Formats: sequence, C-alpha cells, structure tokens
Amino acid sequence: MLVRATTTAPIDTAADTVAIGVFDGKRVAHDVEGGALQRLLDSGEAQTSFRHLAQTHAAGKRWILVGLGDRDRFDAERARVAAATVYARCRDLGTTVLCWELPHRLDDDQAGGFVEGTVLASYRFTAFKSGAKDDAAAPAELLVSDHESRVVTVDRAAVVARAQNATRELQDRPANDLTPTALAEFALTLADAHDHITARVEGRAEIVARGMGAFAAVAQGTDVEPALIVLRYEPPDATGPLLGFVGKAVTHDTGGLSIKPAGSMHRMKFDMSGGGAVLGAMQAIAALALPVRIVAVVGSTENTINGSAVKPGDIVRAMNGLTIEVDNTDAEGRLVLGDCLTHAIELGAERLVDVATLTGGVVTALGSTYAGVFANDERWFDVVQAAGARSGERLWRLPLDPEYADRVKGRYADLTNSPEDKKAHPISGAEFLHRFAGDDVPWAHLDIAGVGYDLGKPWAPKGGSGFGVRLLVALAQAHAAA
Ligand code: BES
Ligand code: MN
Ligand code: ZN
Repeated sequence: MLVRATTTAPIDTAADTVAIGVFDGKRVAHDVEGGALQRLLDSGEAQTSFRHLAQTHAAGKRWILVGLGDRDRFDAERARVAAATVYARCRDLGTTVLCWELPHRLDDDQAGGFVEGTVLASYRFTAFKSGAKDDAAAPAELLVSDHESRVVTVDRAAVVARAQNATRELQDRPANDLTPTALAEFALTLADAHDHITARVEGRAEIVARGMGAFAAVAQGTDVEPALIVLRYEPPDATGPLLGFVGKAVTHDTGGLSIKPAGSMHRMKFDMSGGGAVLGAMQAIAALALPVRIVAVVGSTENTINGSAVKPGDIVRAMNGLTIEVDNTDAEGRLVLGDCLTHAIELGAERLVDVATLTGGVVTALGSTYAGVFANDERWFDVVQAAGARSGERLWRLPLDPEYADRVKGRYADLTNSPEDKKAHPISGAEFLHRFAGDDVPWAHLDIAGVGYDLGKPWAPKGGSGFGVRLLVALAQAHAAA
C-alpha cells in the first residue's frame, strides 16, 4: 500500500473514502455539504465511543466516522487500533484510496499510529494460498491529511510498519520454507539493499569451529544447516556506543528428545520471532538512515530429533568456556543465545539487548500485553523500558537475583539449562543468559514468548506480530538523538 502525507483537505484529494475520528464531547471539525457529518453524530448513528463506526456519502465520497473516545485516554496504540478498525471496514467497502483526516493537535507518535495501524492491518500472509494472489479488495493507497506537514512522521511510520510486516512474514512462513538458510538470505538481501550494512553468514562447520558448543548441541539434532547471522550497520555519521542486538531464531522447536506435546507444536514455527524482530529492526533502521552503530547476531537452527540429537544429561562446552548439562533439550533457546551473546561481546557490543521467545512461563505471567524484561544495569533498563513505552511495545520487569542465579548451577557441570523443579522458568532462563552477558556490558533480555504471535489486536489478530521491531527502532532512535 502506498502511503503519503498531504496538507490538502480530504475533500479535495482523490480519495474515495475519508476517515474522520471524533473524540468524546467534540464536534466534527471540517464538515461537508452543510453539516452532513455532524448530523450523523447528532442522530446517534455515529458515536464517539472508542472504535464505533458509521458511514455516509457526501460530496462524491464515502465518509467514515470513527469514535476515538476520551481525548485524555487517547494514545498511539488507540490510533493504531482505530486505524485498523477503519481499514477492515474499507476492505469490506472496496475502498481504493483512503484518506485519514488527522484530528487536531496530535503528537508525532499518535499521528504515526494511524499510519502504523493501517499498514499493519493491511498485512496478509498469502504465499501458500492458491488462487488470486493480488489482494483485489485491499485499498491501494493511504493519504494522511493534516493542516501541518506530517511528511517526516508519516514516512517514518510507514517504513517501520512495513519492516514490522516483513518480520511477520518471516514468522508466518513455515519451518520447511523458512529454514535458517532462508532467514540468512533475508539478512544478505538487506545487506545488498543498504550501503552501510554488511552481513556474514556461517554454518555448522564454523559454529563448531568457533567453539559454540551450546549452539552446536541444539543444531546437532537436525540435518538442516544452522546459521549464525551477523549484520553490521555502520553509517559514516554514526556516533555513540556500538549497540548489540541478539535474537533467538529457532525456526522450529519440537522440544528435541524432551519432546513437546503435539497439541500446539505447530506454533513453534514462531520460535524464530526474536531473530526475526532483530532483522526487521535492522531493515527499518537502515531505511531511516539512523546515525547509530549496530551489530546484530542472530542464532538460527531447528530444534528437532535426528539420530544424533543432544540427549538429556549430555554435557557441552559453550564458547565462553562454561560447561552446561543439557537436562532438558526443550530449554534450547538459552543454549543458542548464550553463545550468541558471547559472540556479540567479542564483536565489540557495548550495549546488549536480546530478544527471544524463551519461556512458556512468561506467557502465563504476562499474557499478550507485556513482554518480560530483565536487565543487569539500571540505566540501560531505563533506556530499554522507555523505548518500549515510546513504541507501544510494553515491557514488565522481572528480577535477577543471586538466589535465582544459584538455581542454574549444574550438578555435574558449571550450569544446567533447566533446574529440576518447575519454578520461575522465565527467571532461570534470564539468569542462565546472565552468565553469558556478564556484568561488564549493560544487557537487557526480552522474553517475547507471549507477545510474539497471536496478539489478538485489531492490527495483528493472529500469526506473527512483529513484536520488537518498533521497540528496537525506538532504541536506536534514542541513541541517534543523544
Ligand atoms: N520456545 C519455547 C518457549 C515458548 C513456549 C515460546 C510457549 C512460545 C510459547 C522454549 O524453547 C521452551 O520450550 N521453553 C521451556 C523451558 C523449560 C523446559 C525450562 C518452557 O518454557 O517450558
Ligand atoms: Mn524449547
Ligand atoms: Zn524454543
């Protein structure tokens, strides 16, 4: 979908459909045909309660009035939801060009929210559907009309939402299509498309040769080639610390020999969501040409069972020298990520954030509303938390504590990847990773198992959500501004 900001009044644009939001207690700001829209509101057919829709025809166009609710409760997320609601109606109506008339006095994030909500709602995963591929019912163009020029905000929001959709496509692709090699191809394509990105992809032999024994242990259970994907983004004008983005990209997690129940195993194609978010964020950051330096490390493999799969009780040695008892082969994400964190530090990362669908426990604790966040540094936590709040991808902090750290000590080796009792899984996972991140580099771990897919939001009801893309872009933006 084309997206364009304009200062032309909606009535004078080529749009066939105009969307207008109205807050509680407010009137229609710019009416048509002597008050047709206000009359719709006065009659009660249109209402200002949040997400309420009504429509009419006037001046040769279709007009959709959408309730925006309480002005004081309005935020960027409500803008995304309102926009997605309108978009769904537009699809039903056969809209070709939609023009949003922005309410007065929005901040940039709220204005951008209307664009994000529309572009995100337009996402469909149709790669494997036979028949009409080109989505004939979908609006082809979005115009965003305001008195002041919103070009920068609108363009930025479109770039970020498209990158988020690219991540969602990676997520939705099944594991027999999106192999680690296919994910690596996405990274290589990014590097081809952007002057200041370089990519390096290594396979099983290099992962083993580097001494990444934890990552290699997961990958030894599949004949599918794993991939260690490293992207560097270094534009000439960049300043500030080297940011390290680390992502878990398990393209399918069967659990390995500690096998998962069959009922929901198909959803484990989404276990690459963290790595997918890192790649989507790199796409957006490069497209926006943000003056920051980033090294991204994405560890990708299947977690399946061939004849040489790692067995519960096996002991492996990670790249940082620590030995690990693999007591549960389903706690594979921390094995992959541990070595990737070590690698990111070796590559010079000065601030770390890892993104992973790490534990079912975080789904139980926080559902699809907040991602869990852990951090070894208060100031870095504040920065990451602020990026979450700014982007609408919200984070709830869970504790690190020496008492929890004791629980990941191994009986026969330095560490166990899975303490015997069923307590505090998200924290055990984080404390395990903590042993790789250390305390010298500020580090935050985002457990996105609950927010990575099937969000149930109007702009992302089912399938991959692209969670993490907007947050990582906001994090980069915060460093670009500093
Ligand atoms: N990929 C899963 C976590 C997950 C669960 C993601 C549900 C999305 C939805 C991860 O590899 C896993 O299996 N974690 C185990 C760890 C346990 C064995 C210590 C878990 O959380 O049950
Ligand atoms: Mn697992
Ligand atoms: Zn997993």
